[in-house]
Amino acid sequence: MAPRIFVTQIVPEPALAALRRLGEVDVNPDPERVLTKEELIAAVRTHDYLYCMVTNRVDAEVMDANPGLRIVANMGVGYDNVHLAAATSRRIPVTNTPGVLTETTADLAWALLMAVARRVAEGDRLVRGGRFGSWGPLMLLGADVCGKTLGVVGFGRIGRAVARRAQGFAMEVVYSDAEPAPPEVEASLRARHVPLEDLLRRADFVSLHVPGGPGTHHLIGAPRLALMKPTAYLVNTSRGPVIDEAALVAALRAGQIAGAGLDVFEREPLLTPGLAELENVVLTPHIGSASLETRTKMALTAAANVAAVIAGQRPPNLVNPAVYGGGA
Ligand code: DGY
Repeated sequence: MAPRIFVTQIVPEPALAALRRLGEVDVNPDPERVLTKEELIAAVRTHDYLYCMVTNRVDAEVMDANPGLRIVANMGVGYDNVHLAAATSRRIPVTNTPGVLTETTADLAWALLMAVARRVAEGDRLVRGGRFGSWGPLMLLGADVCGKTLGVVGFGRIGRAVARRAQGFAMEVVYSDAEPAPPEVEASLRARHVPLEDLLRRADFVSLHVPGGPGTHHLIGAPRLALMKPTAYLVNTSRGPVIDEAALVAALRAGQIAGAGLDVFEREPLLTPGLAELENVVLTPHIGSASLETRTKMALTAAANVAAVIAGQRPPNLVNPAVYGGGA
């Protein structure tokens, strides 16, 4: 019998074509609508290969719908939507799509940083709203970026790509991470490892690049927001729950920080009350990796992981190597 693959949301056609060469493919046909848990369970029941994404919570109950489930192939570098321990204990490989989205996500972090510092979204609203009466010496005054200090929280692939871009803006770069990066990486990015609290006190722009999950839940809450300068901006392209969104709304309202650029939200797609009413935030709908080129690469990478498992091989982007009885 041909392998049965279920894709939870439509992905770029080259990846669907690659999957169709592997077996019988069923796709949730609605690009807008996320499957309910019941629908996901029903799909898993009849498909041994699950190709999913950040919008799908794949927990033990979903996995138990099919004892023959062979892979959870997540299209995305983050996989906090998948219960990893549950998958590992059931010997189900879980895969992600690292690397291919690094530069695209770093670009969006910078787009948000620039947009909030220079009040681009506010300006757009003003012009569209017919309120652009004339040039004004005091109109929409923002903050300079060039020569300021960038704080990168989480210095993995994306954090480093964000830091690399800062060189073009003559910025001082400080970063926090559990471990310092190798000296040659620090030297090439002209970045300095500092404790998170110091970073928050020093940085004019703080950009978050940590993985989601319990270890980073509310990493940035009221006490840490209080450490930031009143002129500083916070950018998040990682995962929404890394920020305590209610605390952020309060800090923004109180002028405790100058602004925020957010691509991810704590209860996505819902927004914490008050957030959308603030002028000093720029909000985008989780589009960090959303270029046609990158989404195509991500989709093909996830398909390659499925292909490997179908071929009886260890998938290239395995995140739970214990399933194959070993390390990375
Ligand atoms: C990622 O790759 O983690 C994106 O946020 C989409 O899941």
